[in-house]
Amino acid sequence: MLADLTNSCTIVSTESPAYNMIKTETQGRVAIITLNRPKALNALCSELFHEINDALARFDNDSGIGAIVLTGSERAFAAGADIKEMKDTQFIDNYKSNFLGHWVEQINKLRKPLLAAVNGYALGGGCELAMMCDIIYAGEKAVFGQPEINLGTIPGAGGTQRLTRAVGKSKAMEMILAGSVNLDAQEAKTLGLVSAVFPPETLLQETIKTATKIASKGAVSVQMAKEAVNQAYELNLSSGLHFERRLFQATFATKDQKEGMGAFAEKRKPNFTHE
Ligand code: CAA
Repeated sequence: MLADLTNSCTIVSTESPAYNMIKTETQGRVAIITLNRPKALNALCSELFHEINDALARFDNDSGIGAIVLTGSERAFAAGADIKEMKDTQFIDNYKSNFLGHWVEQINKLRKPLLAAVNGYALGGGCELAMMCDIIYAGEKAVFGQPEINLGTIPGAGGTQRLTRAVGKSKAMEMILAGSVNLDAQEAKTLGLVSAVFPPETLLQETIKTATKIASKGAVSVQMAKEAVNQAYELNLSSGLHFERRLFQATFATKDQKEGMGAFAEKRKPNFTHE
């Protein structure tokens, strides 16, 4: 079954020749994962997601990497979960196997920043995958939507939760209930779903530029800052402020804090060592 869904396009990467549906590369301290299942518009079948998870785990554990970029093609970031793969599955199997649970396992525990560079379709699970990332940049022709209702189902990988937090209840309801109300890149930016829009051909380079900037900072404070921002979605304000203050205080135990503040006082650029 999976073999049928796999495109003939097998990528040979110097880092991991085993991947069939993604390409991976590094540029300095930035890792780039490119979804590469073009004939199915990067529909997220199990094999593709397992490869994404594997690459994410590998880069998260690589001390030479400071940020990760996830992207697709100009036509599609990802057109959703693989409808053909899941259409005949039964509730009992999905429940027992915790279907889609593996989508969030790795991304939820990822310590390094993950930036999405979204060109083309980001629909259903594709939109949800983008929203699992820490920063979303969009190409001018990007399309964000949650069309699951048209298939007789609902978003299953965070769409009802993350989209609502990102764009507000009314717009999220409109998109999810009507199934045909998509956001173009500018609307997505206006609503706060994405933080910047670029021409399709420069999107990836712009995303890598920001990732490179992030990766040049002290890795420990970057990780702590990511943890603190993510807690804004989980905690009430006083608990979140408490969490943030404790992490802020903890940064004073790092060499990078001494280097960063010392460099400012000495009017020079800091040289972070990620310690
Ligand atoms: N699953 C499986 N295959 C898909 C797919 C998907 N989600 N999206 C596209 N494809 C396949 C098509 O079946 C087609 O394959 P064939 O050439 O073998 O027929 C190929 O990709 C190209 O697609 P189209 O011919 O449809 O291209 P288009 O340009 O005419 O339309 C599109 C593009 C509007 C994105 C359309 O493909 C589409 O509507 N796709 C489905 C989008 C969708 O409903 N996503 C939600 C999935 S459910 C989900 O994601 C649940 C969740 O919350 C996790």
